[in-house]
Amino acid sequence: MKKLIVSLMVVLLFTVGAFAANQLEIFSWWTGGGEEAGLLALIEELTAQYPDLEVINATVAGGAGSNAKAVLKTRMLGGNPPDSFQVHAGEELTDTYVVTGKMEPITKYLAEWGYLDKFPKDIFDICAYEGEVYSIPVNVHRGNVVFYNKAIAEEIGMTSEPNTWEEFFYYLEKAKDAGYTGLSLGDKNKWTATQVFEDIMLSQFGAYKYTKLWNGQQSFNSVALKDSLQIMKDLIPYFNKDHSSLTWQDASRLVYEKKALFNIMGDWAEGYFKEMGWTPGEEFGWFATPETGNAFMIISDTFGLPKGAPNPENALKWLKFIGSVKAQDIFNPIKGSIPARVDADKSKYDVYLQWAMNDFSNLALAPSIAHGSAAPGAFAGALDDAINGFLATENIENTMEDILWAAEDEGYNIN
Ligand code: GAL
Repeated sequence: MKKLIVSLMVVLLFTVGAFAANQLEIFSWWTGGGEEAGLLALIEELTAQYPDLEVINATVAGGAGSNAKAVLKTRMLGGNPPDSFQVHAGEELTDTYVVTGKMEPITKYLAEWGYLDKFPKDIFDICAYEGEVYSIPVNVHRGNVVFYNKAIAEEIGMTSEPNTWEEFFYYLEKAKDAGYTGLSLGDKNKWTATQVFEDIMLSQFGAYKYTKLWNGQQSFNSVALKDSLQIMKDLIPYFNKDHSSLTWQDASRLVYEKKALFNIMGDWAEGYFKEMGWTPGEEFGWFATPETGNAFMIISDTFGLPKGAPNPENALKWLKFIGSVKAQDIFNPIKGSIPARVDADKSKYDVYLQWAMNDFSNLALAPSIAHGSAAPGAFAGALDDAINGFLATENIENTMEDILWAAEDEGYNIN
């Protein structure tokens, strides 16, 4: 009997303890290599504002959520959601979680906090479904950027940045002749090769037609797709040979270590270079992926409120916080992204980020496939497989067919 009473007391204490805990579980894939620092700075400021809050920083390593997304899905389907989680604006949010009824709309809170007119409409549009907004963007990343090692560029006589593929290949060849890797790649997680390919697609379709692929007004079955595969094929000899065993950070690091001239990567690489001690414009330069200079491949990390979140009030504190100017200006200069808010303090951003900000407000926006905005996960996954297979087979006809199959499955236009 005594034993039973003691056990009951333990259970009671534990339960009370659990309820008393003022927790907030934030789920993301920002674990290091430049990813983590911005998140930790956010958490630091949040807990300074709410000292009683116990933040659980739940992360699953792997760039672009290559592992995190599967863990999250299992948790969401199993009725065990975190309080808030990183999710890309666009199809990744809507197709996976909103349409399936797993998210709470947050429009009324955004109105209450005075946020509705503080973000570009284009961005809220991709966080919305049937008139309700479901997540709040903490940043905007650019996906069509080439970063380069300035010392190598100087050595091989690259006096101006290449705008066309022809010029790009010219410098790849020069870098190769000088004993360097031309273009670094780390496709241990397949999305990095897909990201290179989607940039090439953007260059070949052009922003206008590329964006029409997603609403069926533009057919995938086009010479632009074939030409994209040809360019990808022509790039293969310039990749580092060990690309399939490296991560995106490893590939960016090859540029940092003066082993590779170029790296096509989203601008989280900028955050990574800075974390390793580089200053933008000094040791590294950048330019838009060839023939995409009039477009901005947009990637936006957002957070929302899952239905059944254990601590919804704390989740709302988090959402309100990350949507504030203060939080956006803490996070983005470290992360290598630009603020999603329109009224952030531009002076806090370095020369690279100011370049990106300027382009963001002036250029055509194109959604990324590799980072969940343009297409549902099933299509992105099929493209990952097709492109990674292609790096081994180099077979344009078969890969074209694989992509068309995937597009047809998704209901896109392949006529
Ligand atoms: C993207 C994400 C970025 C960065 C990158 C590499 O999907 O939007 O914030 O985390 O993956 O991991």
